[in-house]
Amino acid sequence: MCGIFGYINYLTPKSRKEILDLLVTGLKRQEYRGYDSAGVAIDTDNKDIALIKKTGKVKLLEEEINKRCAEMDMETAIDIHCGIAHTRWATHGVPSETNSHPQRSDDAHSFVVVHNGIVTNYKEVKVFLQNKGYRFESDTDTEIIAKLIHLFYIQHPTYSFRELVESVVQQLEGAFALCFKSKHFPGECVATRRGSPLLVGIKTKTRLSTDYVPILYGKDDTPASKEPSDSAHSEHRPHMRDIPVLPRTESTSEFQPLEDKEVEYFFASDAAAVIEHTNRVIYFEDDDVAAVKEGALSIHRLRRNMDDPHSREIHTVKMELQQIMKGNYSFFMQKEIFEQPESVINTMRGRVNFETQSIILGGIKEYIPEIKRCRRLMLIGCGTSYHSAIATRQLLEELTELPVMVELASDFLDRTTPVFRDDVCFFISQSGETADTLMALRYCKMRGALIVGITNTVGSSICRESHCGVHINAGPEIGVASTKAYTSQFIALVMFALVMSEDRISLRQRRAEIMQGLENLQEQIRAVLKLDAEVQALAKDLYQQKSLLIMGRGYNYATCLEGALKVKELTYMHSEGIMAGELKHGPLALIDDQMPVLMIVMRDPVYAKCMNALQQVTAREGRPILICEEGDNETASMAFKSLQIPKTVDCLQGILTVIPMQLLSFHLAVLRGCNVDCPRNLAKSVTVE
Ligand code: UD1
Ligand code: GLU
Ligand code: MG
Repeated sequence: MCGIFGYINYLTPKSRKEILDLLVTGLKRQEYRGYDSAGVAIDTDNKDIALIKKTGKVKLLEEEINKRCAEMDMETAIDIHCGIAHTRWATHGVPSETNSHPQRSDDAHSFVVVHNGIVTNYKEVKVFLQNKGYRFESDTDTEIIAKLIHLFYIQHPTYSFRELVESVVQQLEGAFALCFKSKHFPGECVATRRGSPLLVGIKTKTRLSTDYVPILYGKDDTPASKEPSDSAHSEHRPHMRDIPVLPRTESTSEFQPLEDKEVEYFFASDAAAVIEHTNRVIYFEDDDVAAVKEGALSIHRLRRNMDDPHSREIHTVKMELQQIMKGNYSFFMQKEIFEQPESVINTMRGRVNFETQSIILGGIKEYIPEIKRCRRLMLIGCGTSYHSAIATRQLLEELTELPVMVELASDFLDRTTPVFRDDVCFFISQSGETADTLMALRYCKMRGALIVGITNTVGSSICRESHCGVHINAGPEIGVASTKAYTSQFIALVMFALVMSEDRISLRQRRAEIMQGLENLQEQIRAVLKLDAEVQALAKDLYQQKSLLIMGRGYNYATCLEGALKVKELTYMHSEGIMAGELKHGPLALIDDQMPVLMIVMRDPVYAKCMNALQQVTAREGRPILICEEGDNETASMAFKSLQIPKTVDCLQGILTVIPMQLLSFHLAVLRGCNVDCPRNLAKSVTVE
């Protein structure tokens, strides 16, 4: 989920020092993507590969490199060299040196690899490799890739580096971008992707002689490789496939950039890492396998589909570094809002099987029988995490039939709330370090409750101190105002509710409907994000206001709270999330023709009640803005303005209704000239009480 950087210099002499500087700078340029550890692999003087890895910042890695390289020759120029580097955001195994990348095949460093993403079938492959005698040193999913390519190398000594990589990726499920280096193929580099970004920058002394690199397809048209897929769909597969017989590629025409052959290649997750070297870039597609050998770059695909192109275009990137860093977005928060179609999939990846309608939460599987026997569930968090608990409480009550308490960590502690041994307490925190939540965790743990963490950060305090839990795998979140972590926490809790009701025949229909909703989520989020311009127009009407009331009830009440929190955090405007049922008990007094009101009115079980509230607002000359269902023109006609969003099953609707609120608060903040990514007085991870 973080950064890959590979650098190959072909007949472009560079000292080891220069090479390492290039690799480290490549990582630094991608630092903004967030990570917890970093590492590099380069050749040593005696034809070995040196792996240098460090937990923490790239700066620390740099210091480690300086220490470790003291004995190496740093000055002599090397004509041909391949180095790979990585920043890791742990999904499998805590941040540690052993778990950092590059991962290796063996002590002799035959093959090393860096990986972004998640391999979901790594357990099966690991067992297969263990049976072949491989010993594993890390807890990562990535290590199987390094070991598997080694096995194939032993079994198929005639295969090229590229063919070996092709064989490996056919065995992998999940999402990945990979960059390989091998002692057996010095000066060569092979990179490929499926679902995670990857590109190559090309630098030559003279102008490139072409704007395209031809794609070489496998001769064999049999469907050797798996359909590329970016959904969590069909990802459970029990056994290793037979090792494929590889189709040989048709031609050998490769990309020869120019007559004098001197060339440098930069593989990276992000153009930000290459732009200072070259603006000539190829963006890879899923299942492209790119190989650099003897200075030539070739792109291969095992299979040709009807409408596949014959080549990949070399783009000229015109953007400035600053621009690219945020990936075409002006702010991290905006980038993270737009990442949600992918982050929600990552939360479900390897866990939800839509075909068999089953869900496995590996992190709490063994505790499910115990959880099922508990007396009540308690969901504890602060801020946005607390809202994700409110958002899913109703579904948890419905599917578990247990009493569900939702608590703000600070208040929960203030009250010295009674907690019992047969309680199950959930602690929800993006960073896993939130001090209030952590204190509440310790409080409950001392009283003997079962502690379940819902965190985005592997190896965090909450993760370590909880008995079990679910990592939401939303990827690093950098904007202080949480967005994608919220939708992923939401989904994690929904998945938990589904797991708890697995054997309930009476709930089969309901479960199926929710599964269907989860499956459609990615597309629907994309549709909601298309409303961005409409939301921006709304923001233009609203940004000079002092206040914004956000009303709703039922499944969408949490969206009101979360929407209002976003508005407060980012715009410093007053905003309140109001439970529509409470209107007549007080808030109605605020309504006049001046007060901006936003209401969420979906055709769910509380529709009639929401309409009632709407009437109360319009009767007082309020001019409500409505968020309602796509095609519901009848409801929309009651509004001063409206936004129509796709309908999903009631209990997931909050995921779709919160996105316009995230966008709205973002646009309001921009219009009001506020610092979107670092609102005043706030910190990303609140580690103080
Ligand atoms: C594992 C992978 C996950 C991947 C999934 C499916 C790890 C760390 N995770 O997840 O990235 O998506 O396979 O391929 O290998 N835990 C806590 N407290 C928390 C969160 C987690 O104690 O707050 C514990 C869990 O109980 C478990 C471990 O951490 O022992 C990993 O949790 P999680 O990543 O959610 O487990 P899987 O779903 O198996
Ligand atoms: N899943 C891999 C790991 O945990 C890669 C994580 C990443 O994308 O940085 O090591
Ligand atoms: Mg734990």
